[in-house]
Amino acid sequence: MTAITESVDLDRRGRIAVLTVNNPPVNALSQHVRQGLRDGVRAANADTSVDAIVLACAGRTFIAGADISEFGKPPREPGLHEVLDLIERGPKPVVAAIHGTALGGGLEVALACHWRVAVKSARVGFPEVKLGLLPGALGTQRLPRVAGVEKALQMIVSGDPITADDALKHGVIDEIVDGDLTAAAVAFAEKVVREKSPLRKIRDLDEKVAAARGKPEIFANFRKSVARQTRGFRAPENCIKAIEAAVNLPFDEGVKRERELFVELLNSPESKAQRYFFFAEREAAKIPDVPADTPAKDIKKAGVIGAGTMGGGIAMNFANAGIPVTVVEVTKEALDRGLAVVRKNYEISASRGRFTAADVEKRMGLITGTTDWNAVKDADIVIEAVFEEMPVKKEVFARLDGIAKPDAVLATNTSTLDVNEIASATKRPESVIGTHFFSPANVMRLLENVRGAKSSKTAIATAMAVGRRIGKVPVLVGVCYGFVGNRMLHQRGLQAEKLILEGALPHQVDKVLTDFGFPMGPFAMSDLAGLDVGWRIRKGRGTKSPVADRICELGRFGQKTGGGYYTYESGDRKPIPDNEVEKIIVDVATSMGITRRPIADEEILQRLLYPMVNEGAKILEEKIAIRASDIDVIWVYGYGWPVYRGGPMFWADQIGLKSLRDRMLEWKKQSGDDFWTPAPRLARLADQGKGFLDK
Ligand SMILES: NC(=O)c1ccc[n+]([C@@H]2O[C@H](COP(=O)([O-])OP(=O)(O)OC[C@H]3O[C@@H](n4cnc5c(N)ncnc54)[C@H](O)[C@@H]3O)[C@@H](O)[C@H]2O)c1
Repeated sequence: MTAITESVDLDRRGRIAVLTVNNPPVNALSQHVRQGLRDGVRAANADTSVDAIVLACAGRTFIAGADISEFGKPPREPGLHEVLDLIERGPKPVVAAIHGTALGGGLEVALACHWRVAVKSARVGFPEVKLGLLPGALGTQRLPRVAGVEKALQMIVSGDPITADDALKHGVIDEIVDGDLTAAAVAFAEKVVREKSPLRKIRDLDEKVAAARGKPEIFANFRKSVARQTRGFRAPENCIKAIEAAVNLPFDEGVKRERELFVELLNSPESKAQRYFFFAEREAAKIPDVPADTPAKDIKKAGVIGAGTMGGGIAMNFANAGIPVTVVEVTKEALDRGLAVVRKNYEISASRGRFTAADVEKRMGLITGTTDWNAVKDADIVIEAVFEEMPVKKEVFARLDGIAKPDAVLATNTSTLDVNEIASATKRPESVIGTHFFSPANVMRLLENVRGAKSSKTAIATAMAVGRRIGKVPVLVGVCYGFVGNRMLHQRGLQAEKLILEGALPHQVDKVLTDFGFPMGPFAMSDLAGLDVGWRIRKGRGTKSPVADRICELGRFGQKTGGGYYTYESGDRKPIPDNEVEKIIVDVATSMGITRRPIADEEILQRLLYPMVNEGAKILEEKIAIRASDIDVIWVYGYGWPVYRGGPMFWADQIGLKSLRDRMLEWKKQSGDDFWTPAPRLARLADQGKGFLDK
């Protein structure tokens, strides 16, 4: 065996050269891998005792993509294009041997080979679109030539990998093999040599792209089918254009077009934001004083207290991850009601083809409902999701303290209450932590884990690890009212209310935010959540929200009553602006002595989002969030902030904090309202010409 570079070896099996990439953990295409492939292929091609080449990978996967640590650095030779060209144009057959995942540049390497064999568990795909890019090493030109245009569109624009079976069916791979992969690939190569098969260079294949030539409707229909999920993103359209080029241009021209489209994306603000966010999400897993090797409790069994809206959804997360979970309720009726909702949710998923009827039973089988608290005595984590009232929460925790295992993690799903006070109801506050799920809890990816003053490192590490295990994106935050997400949302809500009194209407405010990229605006969101909840809380506290109160007095609680800020036609969730609501708004404004005026969309956007950024600055100053990028992760996963705008803190940095601060000061002068006082951190960074994310 010869080492070509530190990560690529050249070996021989008879007359077949085996090039093996060994660049743990995922065999990323680092410079030394590219060089090793280039030099290894050159050496094998020059060696007259070699008939063919097998390209394989050591470890758990085939090449799973680019080396992200090289992102943003000057390119280093050799480039991937050069390596792929050398593989494809060489005189000897090259067979890729795929296991694990062949992703991005990895799949592009495989497609430059003349044949591809894979194990059954392998998966292949082009995830570039998720970073706002396209597969720019000829992936958009080669894939449609083997898989056909429809499959290539679907794979490249979704970014989702496909299974080996699917890849075989669509010609992306040539054979699924059993047993030792390298041996099978060598046998495949020997067969190709024996049969003197002409080299299958994908660049020369035309049949599948020709089938789509002169049929622009294929692309028009595809664009229509993805319009909703790709709204606001730039990369999907460029991916489609690149595949159109594969259909309509000769290979080398298509390659040039792919390059142009790639460079355009690389320099786009959308991709910049998406690449930033990719790292932000990974960063959120890191907690400075709780290192990655901090032992987390292995969760073999979970408990949930309360089978309401949140409890049921939380229990589903555990069942979905294969973890048995016991749900405790006060009464049999509440329990049955809660579990019936869970079953119904599963059945809806099954009816949409997401899983089978057997899966519904399997998951339901992992959820045990009871009114007997002793049933959680062997749970490794217990999550409380009962009414949002401090005395109730404290009673629950005092009771859990007497029942749960000594080393169990005791978690609360409170959205507003003080986790430290809840913890004080136990004799083990170090085991208590907040796990703030978002509604619907079985769907929303965000998990705000709330660190109490006494939460132990084990409790923190466990909450983070279990969050990931159940498919969430956990972000650690500190104790304060509303934590990070809702605390910032509250600021936005205050301005939304003011804006409608000063002259805007709910649908104008909402449209500004949906045009920005949010799935819905604050008023449509209130209608969805139900206006009665806030109304009841305000009545209890003796506070007012003049417009919302008047709307509620009419029995308009939102979608569930057919009207709130908007009107809804029965069975339809589409918000329709309502004259009656407009009249209420105008009346209230008049009664408050406000002269309504037309408000420009730009002002609406800034007045909604700048206060959020300002609150984010306070949150950072108070160390409620560990880092600015964590706030962005919270907003993207919990509140639908468009990922192609990075998140509020990234977005603010792009605008420039000085411009933000100055605008706030102008409004402060105009209104005399201290609401617009820039937070000290915002003011300081603006003075220094820096951003939240600058190191
Ligand atoms: N609904 C949301 O959008 C949302 C989002 C995040 C967090 N939360 C928080 O989650 C918690 C639960 O909210 P929800 O919306 O699911 O409320 P819910 O009213 O739908 O459910 C609460 C359930 O807890 C049960 N319960 C009450 N006291 C109990 C006790 N002592 N023992 C066992 N069960 C008890 C009730 O019977 C009820 O079924 C609250 O703390 C809330 O603030 C809610």
